[in-house]
Amino acid sequence: MVHAAELIRRKRDGERLGAEELGELVLAYARGEVPDYQMAAFCMAVFFRGLDGAETFALTDAMIRSGETIGLGAAIGRKVVDKHSTGGVGDKTSLAVGPIVAACGVPFGKMSGRGLGHTGGTLDKLESIPGFRVELTTDEFVRQVRDVGLAIIGQSANLVPADKLLYGLRDVTATVDNVSLIAASIMSKKIAAGADAIVLDVKVGDGAFMKTLDEARELAQAMLELGRHAGREVACVLTDMDQPLGQAVGNALEIRETIATLRGEGPPDFTELVTAACAHLLAFSDLGLDEDGGRARAVAAVQDGSALAMYERWIAAQGGDPSEDALPSAPVVREVTAPSDGHVRAIGAVAVGMAALRLGAGRRTKDDSIDHAVGVLCLKKRGDSVAAGDPLAEVHARDETSATQACEEVRAAYELGDEPPPARPVVLETID
Ligand code: URA
Repeated sequence: MVHAAELIRRKRDGERLGAEELGELVLAYARGEVPDYQMAAFCMAVFFRGLDGAETFALTDAMIRSGETIGLGAAIGRKVVDKHSTGGVGDKTSLAVGPIVAACGVPFGKMSGRGLGHTGGTLDKLESIPGFRVELTTDEFVRQVRDVGLAIIGQSANLVPADKLLYGLRDVTATVDNVSLIAASIMSKKIAAGADAIVLDVKVGDGAFMKTLDEARELAQAMLELGRHAGREVACVLTDMDQPLGQAVGNALEIRETIATLRGEGPPDFTELVTAACAHLLAFSDLGLDEDGGRARAVAAVQDGSALAMYERWIAAQGGDPSEDALPSAPVVREVTAPSDGHVRAIGAVAVGMAALRLGAGRRTKDDSIDHAVGVLCLKKRGDSVAAGDPLAEVHARDETSATQACEEVRAAYELGDEPPPARPVVLETID
């Protein structure tokens, strides 16, 4: 019988816990034998005292053992790749990366989450496509990755149930932003879902969990170690989240931007991140490419139309209508214009994310429903020059009142100045 109070006390006092002790605590919590109030106290002790590498691995391992695991690569007889982002504003990267990688002949299987707060969720974006099913059984998931080459679905209830409970608890006890807890949460799901190689996109900046490069490096390193310990190949890209990614923020708007990007007409920052992620994934694949070769293949798949064709095949396989015309549109579209000449010096990612949320594109609590049509298009990005009266952004709203409020918020999110800001690439650093 695990003595939770004793483990909490020892962690509170800065002691190291053994792998077995941590494993027993997590598994007992997942079985309902340790109450939320003790686990919350334990998370707070970890928040202040931290976990070392061995403890973080033991925590991750126990979380994986709390549910089912999927041997995706073994089931389909190929090396399967996956990518994960720590979450940001306008981050639809997986939606473009999946079809490009699959079009190059590399199986891509991914379990995704929903958005909460200012960050969007891949499943919510996919659900703006009429008919699209995010809930496949594990068997259907494996079959689709094998037969189509690509599936993105919601996380099965049986996969890392301990994380579901722990994440819900951390969310309401101010214990989310601890490197070990985030790394264990993300990597337990990635390892249990079965991909052989994983590219992790660690967002850095205003709109991200990790506000500085140093924090992002620490999280990247922790996740790399967990992945390697579990026998997976892992690379981390640290990428900019000081402004929204691409132009579109909001579910159907982001699907449209994904389709444009697969046609080769995407915004430069988003296109660059998608191409860099594909290059890493293809270099990890069983095609025998290096990263430059992977990049060239990814670019070719967009140019020859095979990536877009794969997107259409994938969406149809999950019951969706892949045509752009099927996507919902907002009834009210308003421009936000530049008040003066100058350069865009910054666009607050959280401010734009919150404006989109208040339009109805996101949820404040897990039970909120989503308006898939609404959102914001950031037409001008950091570094762009503008003349007074130029459109900076477009607000897509359900009604005039919410449009007026969002326009004010988006205008306030744009910082203009006389001089352009220093250049900041979308991919800040790669750790592999
Ligand atoms: N995403 C996760 O899945 N878990 C965390 O703890 C933070 C971000």
